[in-house]
Formats: sequence, C-alpha cells, structure tokens
Amino acid sequence: METTDRILQLRAELHQHNHRYYVDNAPTISDQEFDALMRELMDLEAQHPELYDANSPSQRVGSDLQNDFASYPHEHPMLSLGNTYNRDDVREFYERVQQGLEGQDFEVCCELKFDGLSISLIYEDGQLVRALTRGDGVRGDDVTQNVRTIASIPLQLQRTDAANPFPQRFEIRGEILMPWQSFDRLNEERERDGDALFANPRNAASGTLKSKNSRVVAHRQLDAYLYYLLGDGIPTVSHYDNMQTARAWGFKISDAMKLAHSLQDIYDYIDYWDEARHSLPVATDGIVLKVNSLRQQEMLGYTAKSPRWAIAYKFQAERALTRLNEVTFQVGRTGAVTPVANMDPVLLAGTTVKRASLHNEDIIAQLDLHVGDYVYVEKAGEIIPQIVGVEERKRDETLGAKVEFIKTCPECGAQLVRYEGEAAHYCPNDTHCPPQLKGRIEHFVSRDAMNIMGLGAEVVDKFFQNGLIHDVTDLYTLRQRAETPMDLFSQTEEDVMLHDIFSKKSGQNILRAIDDSRQVPFDRVLYALGIRFVGKVAAKALASAVRTMDNLRRATKDELLAVEGIGDIIAQSVLDYFENPDNAALVDRLTAFGLQMEMPEQVQLGTSLEGLGIVISGTFSHHSREEYKQLIEQHGGKNVSSISKKTSFILAGENMGPSKLEKAQKLGVRLVNEDEFLAMIGE
Ligand code: IVH
Repeated sequence: METTDRILQLRAELHQHNHRYYVDNAPTISDQEFDALMRELMDLEAQHPELYDANSPSQRVGSDLQNDFASYPHEHPMLSLGNTYNRDDVREFYERVQQGLEGQDFEVCCELKFDGLSISLIYEDGQLVRALTRGDGVRGDDVTQNVRTIASIPLQLQRTDAANPFPQRFEIRGEILMPWQSFDRLNEERERDGDALFANPRNAASGTLKSKNSRVVAHRQLDAYLYYLLGDGIPTVSHYDNMQTARAWGFKISDAMKLAHSLQDIYDYIDYWDEARHSLPVATDGIVLKVNSLRQQEMLGYTAKSPRWAIAYKFQAERALTRLNEVTFQVGRTGAVTPVANMDPVLLAGTTVKRASLHNEDIIAQLDLHVGDYVYVEKAGEIIPQIVGVEERKRDETLGAKVEFIKTCPECGAQLVRYEGEAAHYCPNDTHCPPQLKGRIEHFVSRDAMNIMGLGAEVVDKFFQNGLIHDVTDLYTLRQRAETPMDLFSQTEEDVMLHDIFSKKSGQNILRAIDDSRQVPFDRVLYALGIRFVGKVAAKALASAVRTMDNLRRATKDELLAVEGIGDIIAQSVLDYFENPDNAALVDRLTAFGLQMEMPEQVQLGTSLEGLGIVISGTFSHHSREEYKQLIEQHGGKNVSSISKKTSFILAGENMGPSKLEKAQKLGVRLVNEDEFLAMIGE
C-alpha cells in the first residue's frame, strides 16, 4: 500500500478506536494493539512531514511548544443561566414558560449541570477548527491546541451515518471536566512534588486548559460533555433530538438527558440525580432545564444576561451540624497563617469530617464564632469542608470564649503581619520559620526547579526533623560529606532510623540528583530560590535579560522594570529579597557550591540580522518563542516588544492577534513567516 494511504487508513482507524474507548466506553482492541497502531502512524508521519494534519490522532499526545493564547470574538455570545435553589423557583420558571408560550404544550429537556468550564467548538467539514473558552462571554481564548489532546473530543467527525449529515460549519458547546480519578491522581502527584493542591476538579480543569504546554494537558486526562448545538442548518427543531444526532456524529453526550412533560417529571428528575450523581465519574453541581423546541426557545427569547428558555437548579450542598472544640493555626510554606476548626467528627457526603478551614480573620468575625459553638459544615464543590454558619439556638452557659486570631506565629513566635488589602495573615520570618524553611527546600528540589528527584516533601520533612538540613545549601554540604549513599543517612546517631526508611537505591539517586543539579541552568536556579512572585516565566525573563546573578543583585528597580513581563510587584520583591542579608549569604554559598549563576555565553551564529529590530507574534511550530528570541540575538538582531515605525519586520506565527496585525498594516511593517525567517538565517 502507498504510504499516504496507509497514513490515512491509520488515522481513520485510530479516530474510531478513540471514540469507542473514550465516548462509547466499549473498546474493540487492546491497549497494546492501539499503541502499536499509534506508533506506526507516528513513525510514518515523522518520515512524511508534508502529510502533517493538525487533527491527526497523533496530535492528541500534545507538544512541548509554548502555547500563547490569542483571543477571538464568539460568533454568538456565551451567556450564563439563571440559578434557582429550590422547588418553588423551579415552579416559577415553569409557570413563566407556560405564560410566555401562551398555553402551548411544551417539553422540558432535563440535563445534568456539569461542574467544569464551558467551551465552544467550531467544526468545518467535520474537522475541529477552533476551540474557545468562555472568556468574558463576548471573546474567548483560543485553546484549540490543548483541546486537541482531550480524547473524548472528536477531531474528525464520522461520516458513517448518511441519514444524519453534519452541517458544513457549526458550533457545539459543552463543558470540559477533570474526572475525579484524574483529579485525585493529579493531586497525589502534586503533593509528592510539593506543588500546591487544586481545591476542586473545576479549578484543576481550568488551570490545565490554560497550560502553556499541551503535553501537560494530554497527561492530565480531561474529559468533555457537549450540550448545545448552534449554527445554520442544524438537524432538527428539537434540542433533545439534536443532541442524539450529535452523539451519532461522534460527540460525547450525556445519557442522563431526559424529556419532562410536567412539573412532576422535573421534580422526579431532580430527586433522582440529587442522589445518583454521587456515583458519577465527574463533578456535577445541579441540573439544567431547557425548553426543548427551538421554535419555542425563540419565542421566549433572552434577557440581557441569560435565556428565558433555560434555567439551572443548583443542588443543595450537603450540610451537617457539629460542635466546635478548638481553633488551631497552621503556618503554610509561604508563611500564610490559616485558622483551622477542630470539631466533633461528623459524617458528611460520605466521609467523616473533623476539621474545616476558617480561611481568615474576617470570616471568623463574620461568624461570631465561640469555642463550644454548634456549627454548620458544608461540602460543596470544594474538597475541604467549610463552616457556613452557627446554630445560635444551641448556645448555653457552657459556651466558651470568642475565637480570636493569633498575633504571633505559632511556629517561630514572630509578630504576624496583614498586608494592606489582603485578608490573610503572614509570618514575615521567611528565613527562620520552620514550615517556611521546609517549604523553600521543597520548592528548591521540585521538578521545575532543581529537579532533585527522590527528595519529595516527605523526605525533606524527615531530613529537616532530624536536623540533617536547615536550608537548601545543606543539601550540598551533605553531599560533600557523604562518600557513599549510606553516609547520607548515618551522619549522626539518630539517623540510624533513616536506614529503615530509605533503600540504598534511593540514597544513590538522591546523591546523583544533587550532583546533576549543579548543571541546572541559571534561570531555573533563580526560580528555585523561591523569591516571592518570581515564577518560572519571570525567572526566565530576568535571567535572559540580566544574564548573571551578580547583575541581578546590582540591578536597580528601573533596570528590573525594563525587562519584558516584569512589573512593579516582581521588581520590588527581587529588591527585597537581596536586601535581606540571610538571602544574600545563601546565594553566596550556593555559588560556592558550583551552581549555575550565569546564562551560557551567547554563541554568535551569524550576522544576517545585524542592525534589525524584530517583533515576534503568534504561535510557531518549529521552535518555541524563547528559541526564536535566542536565534534573533544569535544572528545579530534585536528583540523588540512592540511594533513601531522603526520595527524592521514581524516574525509572524499562526494566530497573530488582530490588533497587532492592524498596527503592522497601518505602519507598513513587513510580516515574515516562520519558514521565511529560518531561510533568512540559513537554518
Ligand atoms: S446550557 C444558553 N447545559 O453552566 C445556554 N450549560 O451558567 C448555555 N453548564 O456556562 C448553557 N452543564 O458552563 C448548559 N447541561 C448543561 C450544562 C451547562 C453545565 C454550565 C455552562 C454554563 C453554566 C450556566
């Protein structure tokens, strides 16, 4: 067979197997067979780059290229739904519809309200061409690259059913979700790596979809249910029937959709799912009621914010009453102090709860909380239970003192501070307060920082408790003293117990990882220091701009502000960091241990861009933006951040923003595409 045909055949087969697995839940081949077909396809595609297809099943694994999100207007605004919380509200909605339809018969389509984030998908000729987030309802972010990795979203619709052709172009909307299973796995991983946990699957899904790296998205295993079809030429005038047709095209449509013919039918649906939803694989927070006939929908119309033909009913969060025994205060890795309610154990939504976060001083004051109070505890979409109220009728003479926020840090005794405009209290002693020290070490060793594998939160905790490490420089002192891996754990007598905890192998891995960390590039070292507000992106920007740690330490505020992407808050934080002599000394010691404190010398590759000022815009497929910036400098050019008359040209990738495009046209600045640019520098 011709290679081209084989590639097309493999793509078609893999699309189908994907659908059987992720949408129908009924695979017809084994995982191994699937992997073998995928490997064959990827090999062939690698040999034939000219046959590239953005919607090939191979694209589902994502790519390490950086995603930059351009925003686009929605073709139809993405409205939200009115909320109701009880049966009376539902009845009122039903009666309003009855009135609006002047006595016509009508059906109501009952659906689950999925608790994720809404997405708009555009298909042309059966191909996914664009995915936009809700954004502000009028414009959304283009997350197509990331959405392509979601296995249950078809990249290519099936043309199997001649009776149900899909329109040439249409929009379908739905909800992107992180299933509980993926969510639990993700949080376990994050806990191990010392990263902050996601509070609920919705936040996790939203963070994931906005990830700059589509490979991360692919790894996190999102799911999607579709629930709304728009556009000219959609199959029928019944919403319910349209959804069944969309299912035949390959979309994942919930089986829980049901037509109601009376108010009682709707109540029955609510009662059933209020209970049954707890065994679903994804989070739901209510049900949605939609008038089924599109003609009747049109008759009812819209208010400024939402349709009159649909409404959301939110499930009552589960609630329990229990006694508050004590409020304790926890100091986190960032120094934030969280008040924690300790209560009599009580059963809530399937688990026993005895602790709840009280968030901050204001919330405690609002609740007028006293020790010995009976409190209502709720678990909504959040994993962590919340105290939502006090049962004042249960107060008696045994009631204890009013709960007051502490003034000093329970870990180190420092006077707490509350920054202007913030609700949280912080312990400012970031160089000596134990949980903060531990937090800094955990951050330092984490994957995106120094990547010292094997030193997860648990191990750091053990080392810390045993006095083996006090700050990050001790990792290198420890390394120097440890001739063999076992020495790591037998430096003092108490450490004998550590032998039991670690195998020889993990000791070896830790030593090797400490050695390897000396090669970690300067920008990641900078990130690893954990300077407040200096995340990965800011660290990279700072490192590329100043090139050396010495320069950074000497930089003035104005010099820092001149770096692209660095604003007042980050600049001030960097200055504050180095002003503290403890931090300065720590950086000196790390330098002495041989960590990378400079960006490598720029290798000059050519002079073809000598004297040119170049603006980069859009997304690219051969190199990341960072790489292009580097290439420009390596060939004598200069990176410029905004377009002006002096700009020599724009290196324009895909999806360049419309405002930039307009400006370029107005000023007559030339656009150079990726391939032309690579030709210019002879790559
Ligand atoms: S229909 C014009 N159906 O709930 C009607 N929305 O405020 C468009 N949602 O933004 C929405 N499940 O993100 C619809 N079965 C469902 C839904 C659903 C969840 C979300 C959606 C929307 C919000 C309503």
